[in-house]
Amino acid sequence: MKDDFQRNINYLRISVTDRCNLRCVYCMPPAGVKHTPHREILSLEEINRVVEAASDIGIRKIRITGGEPLVRKNILRLFQAIADNPAIDDLSLTTNGILFADMANDLKKAGLKRVNFSLDSLEPENFKHITRIGKFSDVWRGIDKALELQLHPVKLNVVAVRGVNDHEFADFARLSRELPLHIRFIELMPIGECNPWAVDNFIAAQEIIQRLQQEFGPLETQIKVTGNGPARYYRLPGAKGTIGFITAMSEHFCSSCNRLRLTANGRLRPCLYSNQEFDLKTPLRKGATRQELAALIEEAIRHKPDRHHMHDGWRDHRVMSQIGG
Ligand code: GTP
Ligand code: 5AD
Ligand code: SF4
Repeated sequence: MKDDFQRNINYLRISVTDRCNLRCVYCMPPAGVKHTPHREILSLEEINRVVEAASDIGIRKIRITGGEPLVRKNILRLFQAIADNPAIDDLSLTTNGILFADMANDLKKAGLKRVNFSLDSLEPENFKHITRIGKFSDVWRGIDKALELQLHPVKLNVVAVRGVNDHEFADFARLSRELPLHIRFIELMPIGECNPWAVDNFIAAQEIIQRLQQEFGPLETQIKVTGNGPARYYRLPGAKGTIGFITAMSEHFCSSCNRLRLTANGRLRPCLYSNQEFDLKTPLRKGATRQELAALIEEAIRHKPDRHHMHDGWRDHRVMSQIGG
């Protein structure tokens, strides 16, 4: 469906849990965040009812995210149900990769098409420092497995943080040369735990591009990589993979935004950076029909703002894992 600004809304990002098995320094406090009680979280059946209704009004692409989606019990059942929906033509996952390797075969069998890993460091020590508890080799095993199963394109999301991983940008670029991996540098957003720290440690994509060009020479531009997100891609000459940038802060991409979010507690959020949410859980639990749900989703799309107001002082104290990154 088209919204009031002629944007085609065809992409639904679903947060299936606000729990996570890592504690990334820019995302969460060391002890984690308070979890939403189980009964407040949509059941897998309820989520699939939302997907069915959304597919009736033009949603074609689904991404399962969190928190860490793979910690959710029986998550394979949801993949299977969505993959069986003939209106959905892209089913993807964003994960921190810790549990991925052991679930990969089953995920692929259930219908997963492609996967994006969140990985901010290639150095085991630094990875431990950033995630506080993660083991690098677990994630690497997952990435290996995704390549082996050809869940292409396999993307790595790297949140760029000054003084934390900016000494590794060239290593990530080299990795894209050796393996068919699509590295995506994400500008740090002042959401949740990292606010106001994020402002001091922010690195704009333009600076990363300049630094890579100093080291590697000109990058090839206007590269196409399958995806529904806002990344822009470049390539090192002769590389198997690419280097992308998600300029959430320095250059917003609101005019081409195609997405809606469903939070783990059953609210539709038309914009990542707007607190306005539309409750679907109450109608779901009161027995709303598929048509009624579809009408509620249309209503949320009609309220999608034309652009975000991050630079105008908007703040949200919830962390990414609670909103669905
Ligand atoms: P592809 O379909 O592979 O392109 O995926 P994607 O980039 O949409 O999904 P992914 O979960 O890998 O997103 C990576 C990051 O992009 C997110 O964690 C956010 O940091 C950022 N991002 C995704 N959607 C939005 C959005 O609507 N607004 C903003 N500002 N950032 C977003
Ligand atoms: N700024 C930018 N990206 C973030 N993510 C989590 N919190 C932030 C933030 N404050 C990223 C994760 C993951 C994706 C889902 O969101 O690292 O790649
Ligand atoms: Fe977990 Fe992702 Fe937050 Fe890291 S950024 S703590 S992996 S939700």
